[in-house]
Amino acid sequence: MLSALGLAFAAGAAGWAIGHSSAGSTKTAMPAGSSASFDPQVAAGAHIFVQFACAQCHGEQGRGGVSPAVPALTTVAKVVSAVQLRSIIDHGLGESTNPTRPYMPVWGEVISQTQVTDLIAYLRAGLPSVPTAVPPSIPTGQGAAVEGSVLYVRDGCINCHGPNGLGGVPNPVAPDKVIPPLSGVAFRKQFNTDAKILAVIRSGSVIGRAPIVSMPHWGGIIPNGQLTALIAYLKTLK
Ligand code: HEC
Ligand code: HEC
Repeated sequence: MLSALGLAFAAGAAGWAIGHSSAGSTKTAMPAGSSASFDPQVAAGAHIFVQFACAQCHGEQGRGGVSPAVPALTTVAKVVSAVQLRSIIDHGLGESTNPTRPYMPVWGEVISQTQVTDLIAYLRAGLPSVPTAVPPSIPTGQGAAVEGSVLYVRDGCINCHGPNGLGGVPNPVAPDKVIPPLSGVAFRKQFNTDAKILAVIRSGSVIGRAPIVSMPHWGGIIPNGQLTALIAYLKTLK
């Protein structure tokens, strides 16, 4: 009898707790797929991390594992201050002139101050998983040019070279003042073989120190088959 009473009381108490916690708090754990809410800056940072292909070099959620030359970012915000993080993202850490080694690109002319602030909030929050902040999946069995068109977004080429490879992103201190297009007559003339395009994507092209934006090094980051697909896509452009 006593135990049945105890049970009834416990059930009543649980009912009371559930009623009150769901009324009083928005932080209650929610079932997967429902609308858990995130700090807007952290959520924006997660999307920017994917958009600018930080995830392609540093791994999804900065977990590393892509290349031994690229560190994981899971603990960096514990040892590096927000001011230093901004400086690293804006200016890189010195471009490697060694064409076999990836380096941290210079982003200051490409990513806005607001976006860098969001990235830092995301790093400091420990790079949590944010729904839909995931790189687009790579289509297979649809031809190299289709695969390359998605890789062009997934690897963040589009942020620097523009939609359809139109170019025009400002690079004020560089001799050309803009990041070059990957379409048009001049590009086709200079890059008239697959081998030439492949070489520059693999090794990058250091045209000066920060704040100049150079072409990042993608060798060891983007697998060879995907580089071929990117080139197939570039060749379909105007
Ligand atoms: C092309 C590859 C590449 C991309 C893209 C890239 N990084 Fe890096 N990053 C590196 C490499 C390599 C290093 C290691 C330092 C070096 O050798 O330049 C690094 C270093 C860093 C560091 C310092 C880590 C430490 O432990 O000191 C931070 C922070 C960082 N990157 C953030 C970012 C963010 C944020 C983005 C996206 C906006 C990004 N990276 C995009 C390659 C990349
Ligand atoms: C951070 C900005 C940035 C990103 C991201 C970037 N590029 Fe570049 N890219 C440049 C710059 C700057 C140059 C010019 C280098 C030079 O003049 O030597 C360049 C040059 C090139 C060239 C040679 C064109 C020329 O006229 O010099 C090719 C091809 C190219 N990039 C392809 C790509 C591909 C493919 C991706 C994505 C995997 C990519 N780039 C991502 C900045 C970027």
